[in-house]
Order: sequence, then structure tokens, then C-alpha cells
Amino acid sequence: MTGAGSVRVRPADEADLHRVMALVRTTPYLQCHTEHTYWILLRYGRRYTYVAETSEALLGYASGVRSNVSPELFFLWQMVVAEHHRRSGIAMALLQALTATAAADGCDEFHAAVAADNHQALGLLERWASQTGRTMEAGQEIVYTADDGPSAEPRTVTEQLTIIRSAGGHS
Ligand SMILES: CC(C)(COP(=O)(O)OP(=O)(O)OC[C@H]1O[C@@H](n2cnc3c(N)ncnc32)[C@H](O)[C@@H]1OP(=O)(O)O)[C@@H](O)C(=O)NCCC(=O)NCCS
Repeated sequence: MTGAGSVRVRPADEADLHRVMALVRTTPYLQCHTEHTYWILLRYGRRYTYVAETSEALLGYASGVRSNVSPELFFLWQMVVAEHHRRSGIAMALLQALTATAAADGCDEFHAAVAADNHQALGLLERWASQTGRTMEAGQEIVYTADDGPSAEPRTVTEQLTIIRSAGGHS
């Protein structure tokens, strides 16, 4: 498997469930869904779910969904790297592994929904697009109400659809 330094990137499996959720909980940019959701992902969607680890800890996770309406479309769903291990190439290694699998399956257009102020995620996607000869552009704005449960006020979330295509690919 690929890696950044001594970090190994590998397909995720069910045993990673709680460590993946613990990583997701470390960032306000991702919503932590239920154990059931991640169990389904790690059992039935794990072709498109990768983790990065050392022998001691799980340091990163990335997951995506292939459209079953337009099979050339791939949605980059969640990605996170443990805070103290950022800027060492772990996310790029995860993204490369995930998108290589998607591309091998025939996907050539990648979408992501990124908060407008999430410069780390936008910087990562820009770097990946330019390194791989793809183009990146803003798509539609996505606005929804997030309900964090009875003890929290519903909040409005605004994200920007980001579209990354192979240069010369279809539009
Ligand atoms: C986004 C995130 C996954 C990037 O992880 P990372 O392991 O630090 O990224 P990498 O080290 O692989 O960075 C690769 C490139 O991405 C870009 N990048 C990464 N972090 C960046 C930042 N904070 N600002 C600008 N560009 C950044 C840079 O071009 C970087 O290359 P460089 O370090 O040589 O300059 C990480 O910051 C994170 O977990 N953020 C919180 C969760 C999140 O926002 N997820 C995405 C939601 S869509």
C-alpha cells in the first residue's frame, strides 16, 4: 500500500469503526454520523474507504461514494487527518488511493461539498487537481439545515460543490 513516511494507507474494514468515528469527531468540518452508518460504509462501501495508520494509531480516513445514477461521477464524502499529523502528506496519500480506485472503476469526475472557509480542504483538492492535470471549478451552492438533536438549535450550513474533472474530459 502507499504511504507518507512510515504511514501505511490501506482499505478500511469493520474493525476500524470506532477509530474512524473518533477521528471524524475531531473536526467541526465533518458531521459524525451514527455507528450504523459507518458500519454500513465499512462493510458494504469499503472499496471506497481508506485509512492511514502507523503501528500505533489510526491517523487518517477518507471515504467516497460512486454515483449509481451517473457512474462516471464520484463524490469525495469525508476525509480527516489527526490534527498533529497534518501537513505531512497523509491526506494526499489517502486521496490518491481513493481516487485511483474510483478512476480504475471508470470515474472521471469528482465532486466534493466543502465549506467556503475550509481552506485546508480546498488547498488539498487544488493541489491534487493540479498535480494530476485536472481542472477544479465551483459548482452550485448547497444550503441545508443541520439538526444536531434536541439540545441544540438547528443551524444553517452552506457548502460549495467543488467539481474536479480530467482536463479534456466531458462536461
Ligand atoms: C483537509 C485535511 C484532510 C488535509 O490533511 P493533511 O494530511 O494535512 O494534508 P496533506 O499534508 O496531504 O496536504 C497536501 C497538500 O494540501 C494542501 N493543504 C493541506 N492543508 C492545507 C492548509 N491548511 N492550507 C492550505 N493548503 C493546505 C497543500 O497544498 C498541501 O501540500 P503542502 O503541505 O506540500 O503545501 C486536514 O486538514 C483535515 O483533516 N481537516 C479537517 C477535516 C476536513 O476539513 N476535511 C475535509 C472536508 S471536505
